[in-house]
Amino acid sequence: MEAYLNRSIKEVIKEFPPVEKILDEYGIGCGPCAVGLCLLKDIVSIHNLPAEEEREMMGRIAQVIHPGQEIQIPRTERKAEAQPKELKYSPPMKKLVDEHVLIKKWLALIPEILPALNLESEEDRQLIRDGVDFIRSYADRFHHAKEEEILFKYFDEDLDMVKVMGEDHKTARNHVKAIVDAVERKDRETVAQHLTAYRELLSQHIKREDEIMLPWMDQHLSVSQVGEMFSKFLEVEERMDSYQKKYEDFISRLEREYRKKGVNHGSIQRLPGLQDG
Ligand SMILES: [Fe+2]
Ligand SMILES: [Fe+2]
Repeated sequence: MEAYLNRSIKEVIKEFPPVEKILDEYGIGCGPCAVGLCLLKDIVSIHNLPAEEEREMMGRIAQVIHPGQEIQIPRTERKAEAQPKELKYSPPMKKLVDEHVLIKKWLALIPEILPALNLESEEDRQLIRDGVDFIRSYADRFHHAKEEEILFKYFDEDLDMVKVMGEDHKTARNHVKAIVDAVERKDRETVAQHLTAYRELLSQHIKREDEIMLPWMDQHLSVSQVGEMFSKFLEVEERMDSYQKKYEDFISRLEREYRKKGVNHGSIQRLPGLQDG
């Protein structure tokens, strides 16, 4: 087991694919970790799991690697007991993290919108079109474009982390296309299915960016690259001057409407990474 603790998570998953699913169950999505930098033993400290969960998870991983054997698992060294992680970002990364907050508010609204959605009504069809406009204009043209056209350009395009995140953006666009087609056919089931899938994909995607990719990228950029990126972001913001205010207003309006309808927020199933809207 000791030998595996000192191997990269990417290699361990390749040799023992069920390990990926176990990590996933503990909220450790290793897609972006698979740059090959994280060792298995680092996973726990990087993700700051509580000691109890660490023991349980490492025990399950040991059973995959050495089935049926009693394995002693060395306790992971950590600087302090698990505390809520405080992540620090450079100014341009902080902008991306702040934009995620607005996107997460939209994701949190989806399960509130879906139960009563009636696509026979023009009002509800327009609501979905407006939601699609938010996704395409704010989440994609404004935010994902900053990531793909500016941030990712500072890194090797073959880097797994960049490829995984870019693939997520593409999958998200395909969900949106399916929603656009289905709404005009008044196909409620397809709209609900793809909006839910979009929500699940983006909530995991944002969590990975906030907790893993952006801090990792910050560590690998020079001060002058960070400064240059900040001014490139400003150019985008100036070009799309009206976006922030327009889409903040859109989300606030929806939040007011759905709160007025008396939606029981406590009953909504929250996904990891989502914040209350
Ligand atoms: Fe992204
Ligand atoms: Fe993002």
